[in-house]
Amino acid sequence: MMEIHLPIKNSWKTVNNLKENLKKEAQERKRNILHLIFKYLVDNNLLSVAEVLQNETQTGIHYQVCDNIDLEIVLQEYQSYYYTKFQKQPKILRKTAENEQVAPLKKERKSTAKEKQTLKQEKNDDTFQFEIVTLSKDSSLSDIQSKPLIDFENYSSEWREMADQIIKQIVPKTLGITFKDCISLSSTIETLKEAIIYPLSYPQLFEKACTWRGVLLYGPPGTGKTLLARALACESSSTLINVTSSAFISKWRGESEKMVKVLFDVAKFYSPTTIFIDEIDALASTSHDSNHEASRRFKSELLTQIDGIMKTEVFVLATTNNPWSIDNALLRRFEKRILVPLPDKDSRSELFQYYFSKNGYDFRNEDLAVFVNQTENFSGSDVKNVCKEAEMIVIREKLEQIRRGDKKKCTRQVKSGDVLNALKKIKPCIEQNDYKKYLDWGRKYGAT
Ligand SMILES: Nc1ncnc2c1ncn2[C@@H]1O[C@H](COP(=O)(O)OP(=O)(O)OP(=O)(O)O)[C@@H](O)[C@H]1O
Ligand SMILES: [Mg+2]
Repeated sequence: MMEIHLPIKNSWKTVNNLKENLKKEAQERKRNILHLIFKYLVDNNLLSVAEVLQNETQTGIHYQVCDNIDLEIVLQEYQSYYYTKFQKQPKILRKTAENEQVAPLKKERKSTAKEKQTLKQEKNDDTFQFEIVTLSKDSSLSDIQSKPLIDFENYSSEWREMADQIIKQIVPKTLGITFKDCISLSSTIETLKEAIIYPLSYPQLFEKACTWRGVLLYGPPGTGKTLLARALACESSSTLINVTSSAFISKWRGESEKMVKVLFDVAKFYSPTTIFIDEIDALASTSHDSNHEASRRFKSELLTQIDGIMKTEVFVLATTNNPWSIDNALLRRFEKRILVPLPDKDSRSELFQYYFSKNGYDFRNEDLAVFVNQTENFSGSDVKNVCKEAEMIVIREKLEQIRRGDKKKCTRQVKSGDVLNALKKIKPCIEQNDYKKYLDWGRKYGAT
């Protein structure tokens, strides 16, 4: 066997680089955890605790948590992963024994009289109450439990390792997102129901009819494509495997076509299954590594596998915001190619009402009309950001009041002026000309 000798100086350099990278990763993890906690505290109105965290760690000042993640999602995904791996729920808490010493909350610093006062105030405030939501037992994973991976015993260890990776990508049904949370997307929802939900609910009607085997959702960023898939995971009785772009494939660089094969094997095993390929262009675009042999093999395996699901209960749902970069042969496999559009005026009004009503705010129709007129080309995600920013304006005022030690309870609600101020800060992610590209592409290649 050939041995490779690195010069000593170089190997030291590599080890040091590695150490440095590990240190950086650990620091970043710590920073991310603090931000997730900060968001959780703010979302649950635990403002003075959030303030202490912010003062001590500068969390929440220069960065904020991305839209699609929060502590609850992290915990739920960990629970599902654990359940899949060990067929039982992980134990997160244990009751402390009577004589057991709980670690003191603060080691060096004692709370000031002012902090004690605000904490007392918060405890009396009824908004202080919150619940830790536990995973419902009735999750998709109970289906998986009835078909544990042990059934794959005769397969090679490489195959099992890949299957293990894929099973980790199964989306739990407990995300708590339903189609009702997908505002103004009713026609897209109907197509997804026709393709995935009705054939399972009314098999007698679909016995002879060919159902759709692939749907591609395309459209500008932030219009709710991924949200729809998450809702589908909760609403449909089929298993949803979320194939996330390159990280998923890159571990098996050069062998990704094997991964595709295992993916469809696992999907058939757990069928009815929806394979959800988010941002499919990252995996199968025409320009992406187009000359690379491995990439070519990957794409052709994907085509073969999609062709092979005709008579199975496996369905492929994909999303993209670059539909024009997808290989034509692959595009043809998606019988439905549906634009998830930017919301029109009525839809934006609904979105404002939806996001504000979540936190108990209600706006008059005249106010909504003003917001709607100022948000042309805003996506659902942009509208959500405006609502968040308007609410943050009020939260910042409350924080300031707490900081000053003001004892009077701040009951100020979000007003239309806050929304207009928020609108000065937030601009849409897409311009009219860029949006036109989606409409043009849809006229040529769409299939609704
Ligand atoms: N129609 C909608 N109804 C309710 N919320 C929406 C809607 N569209 C977007 N949002 C909000 O914006 C967030 C981001 O949307 P999502 O991630 O689904 O966008 P996307 O279309 O997948 O974007 P991208 O193409 O960039 O991946 C959602 O989690 C949701 O909170
Ligand atoms: Mg998305």
